This record gives sequence, C-alpha cells and structure tokens, in this order.
Amino acid sequence: MGRVVIVGITGASGAVYGIRLAEVLKDTPGIEVHLVLSEWAKETIRIETDYVPEHILAMAHACYDNQDMAAAISSGSFPAEGMIIVPASMKTVAGIACGFSSNLIIRAADVSIKEQRKVIIVPRETPLSAIHLENLLKLSRLGVSVLPAIPGFYTRPKTIEDLVDHTVGKILDQFGIEHNLIKRWGDETKGT
Ligand SMILES: Cc1cc2nc3c(=O)[nH]c(=O)nc-3n(C[C@H](O)[C@H](O)[C@H](O)COP(=O)(O)O)c2cc1C
Repeated sequence: MGRVVIVGITGASGAVYGIRLAEVLKDTPGIEVHLVLSEWAKETIRIETDYVPEHILAMAHACYDNQDMAAAISSGSFPAEGMIIVPASMKTVAGIACGFSSNLIIRAADVSIKEQRKVIIVPRETPLSAIHLENLLKLSRLGVSVLPAIPGFYTRPKTIEDLVDHTVGKILDQFGIEHNLIKRWGDETKGT
C-alpha cells in the first residue's frame, strides 16, 4: 500500500479542482486515492465540465458511495494519511465543524480530525457569511488547512488550466506531494 489519500468532491462550484487533483494523483507514484463524490458533486460535474462522474471515479484506486457509512474510510483504523475535500460546500464545512456526520465525506473528515491526520479543505462560496467564517475558523483552529481556491497572479496565468493548477499545486504542497504544477516565486526554470 502506498500513501493513502482520501479525496472528497462535494457540490460546491469548482468541480474542476477536484477532477484535476484526481488526475494528477493518478499519475503520482506511491499515492493511492480513495475517492468519494457527493450527490451534488455528481451534478456540478455534469453542469460545469465535460466529464461524467464515472470518468472521475475511474481515476481512483478505490471509490465509495457517499451514503455508505460502513465503508473502510469511515473508520479510524483505515490507514489513511489524511483527507482533501475539494471543492468543499458550505454544507459539508458546517457538517464537519459541528461533528454531524450525515454522509461518508463528513464522517471521513471527522475521523481524520479525531485521528489528528492532515485535512485540507478547499471551501468555495462568495461572499462568505459569518456562519461560513466561524465554521472555517473552528476547523482551522483544529489544525485543518483551509485553502480557498484563490490563485496568485504573479505567475501571469494565461488559461483557466493555469489557475486550476495553481490551487491544485498548493494542495499538493500542503500534503507534501511533489509536483511540477506551480511556477514558484524566484524560479525562472518552470513554465506555467
Ligand atoms: C451548480 C451549483 C453550484 C453550487 N455552488 C455552490 C458553492 O459554490 N458553494 C456552496 O457552498 N454550495 C454550492 N451549491 C449548493 C450545494 O450543492 C448544496 O448545498 C448541497 O447540499 C451540498 O451538498 P454536499 O456538500 O453534500 O455536496 C451549488 C449547487 C449547484 C447546483
């Protein structure tokens, strides 16, 4: 078994971020992706991209139904290194912040937090209300990495793919997974 990363894609706008992450991790040696799509993620994938959910599920080492609370990843005994939720809806953020594990994505995040594993959340909503901010602050104080999809423009991005890769690169940095998606400040050798 390689390094096991649980990836949850929820029904916030920005399905493309989750898809690109799954695509990159599929080609990263030593990484196993265990993937869950929420029902609304399946819908945003259809609405926002040319993919169908089955394409994305096929990129993963294992995938689970979001209602399957008996899935391996719902237990702390499952040896995952951590979890990435990208994009994360405000509903999922609220569920995690309240410990209300009504589906597998929220349960797996709850477990990852209690096991003190790395959790990265890429929230997507704008503007953010005080409810959203309070939930995110609570998670941040618990050690969750709150990583909004806010691109840097110092790399002079030319395409949507450049913007998406910037955020996916930041996620991989947080997880300590090597990649070549970001032109780093001060590094003239990499293109975007
Ligand atoms: C096209 C579309 C875009 C949406 N974008 C967002 C969003 O950016 N942020 C958000 O919090 N909810 C968004 N929603 C609403 C969520 O899908 C909804 O709250 C859902 O219950 C989330 O459930 P989930 O977190 O289990 O996927 C969007 C819904 C649709 C249909």
